[in-house]
Amino acid sequence: MKKIKVGIVGLGRLGRQHAENIAFRIPNCELTAVCSVLKEEVDEVQKQWNIPYGYTSYNEMLENKELDAIFIASPSGFHCEQIKQALTAGFHVFSEKPLGLYMEEAIEVQEAVSAHPNQVFMLGFMRRYDRSYMAAKKKIDNGDIGEPMFIRCYGLDPAAQMDNFLKFAKANYSGGLFLDMSIHDFDLARWYLGTEAKEAWAIGGSYSRSEFDELNDAETGAAMVRFENNAIGIFVAGRNSAHGYHIETEIIGTKGSLRIGTIPERNQVVVMNETGVVQECYDGFLERFEQAYLSEVEEFINCILEDRKPSVNVNDGVESTLLGYACKASFETGNLVNVQDLSIQLNEKAEDTPLLLT
Ligand code: NAI
Repeated sequence: MKKIKVGIVGLGRLGRQHAENIAFRIPNCELTAVCSVLKEEVDEVQKQWNIPYGYTSYNEMLENKELDAIFIASPSGFHCEQIKQALTAGFHVFSEKPLGLYMEEAIEVQEAVSAHPNQVFMLGFMRRYDRSYMAAKKKIDNGDIGEPMFIRCYGLDPAAQMDNFLKFAKANYSGGLFLDMSIHDFDLARWYLGTEAKEAWAIGGSYSRSEFDELNDAETGAAMVRFENNAIGIFVAGRNSAHGYHIETEIIGTKGSLRIGTIPERNQVVVMNETGVVQECYDGFLERFEQAYLSEVEEFINCILEDRKPSVNVNDGVESTLLGYACKASFETGNLVNVQDLSIQLNEKAEDTPLLLT
């Protein structure tokens, strides 16, 4: 069977996990090239895993005609440009979330994907490939909880990672709490509720570290969203979870409700001693979503081999970015934001000058 030859850009926390999955855990693909701005990262991965090609220039990697697909795990601000370049060069493309940090560039990518209908494009909303989130989707589609009309999501990063995050955020603009963290929950809400956002109101603050204020970002924030079908969404995101990585989702329907990840337990061990009854928590996204990161890449490779399109597409990237952008605008101005009006306004402005929220 043909093996899909992949080149990856970005060899950081997540890029390395994807690279390892591609190199060793998926039989019908090969990690043929690695690329990063840091030569030491390229040299290390190339040598450790015996990868044929290494690049510190993305453009040079795109000239490698042996490759079939490009995998993008660089910082968020580079995704749109790198996606467009890879599509133009004729490759299938997988990009990490978010699609983009600005609406006009996200729309440009949407146009680029439409202009290359024979190439596979997939976005890294890996929760859709997590076993528990998939099981919940089946139950909702089966009518087990009636008509879903409320979703509550918690996306909390461990406090132990806060220093690392601040270092990352100072070096690479992440888009802020709602575009960086809540974006997964916005995608899940659209997926489960089957509707788009209508209005958003978001608030947040810095409660333990002043650096978030300096970055014009929130350490912890919450957004309330009304969807077009009148469903309600409540999205809480934060960087200061004392007990570890906590991703939780609740969906209430007209005939019942379901929850995913209410207790973010690392395993089934419960320790009972003088401190009480204790269960360990996941320490981060790589541990909690290990299976989902592998399954999404398998799906991308299978889509290329079977000449079909993945269910997570560029439109999901544009709509979730729009909601993230609306929450960011609401957080910055204190106003309720009409999401569809914002979309029209952004489209009009994009034709004149780029609209950038700081
Ligand atoms: P990181 O900072 O650990 O790694 C970034 C990598 O990109 C490094 O290897 C860096 O040297 C390289 N790089 C920086 N600028 C570059 C450029 N211009 N061209 C090529 N390479 C460049 O970042 P991390 O945490 O791995 O995040 C990468 C992306 O993955 C981000 O967009 C982030 O939003 C996304 N992400 C997604 C997650 C998910 O659950 N789906 C979880 C964590 C991150």
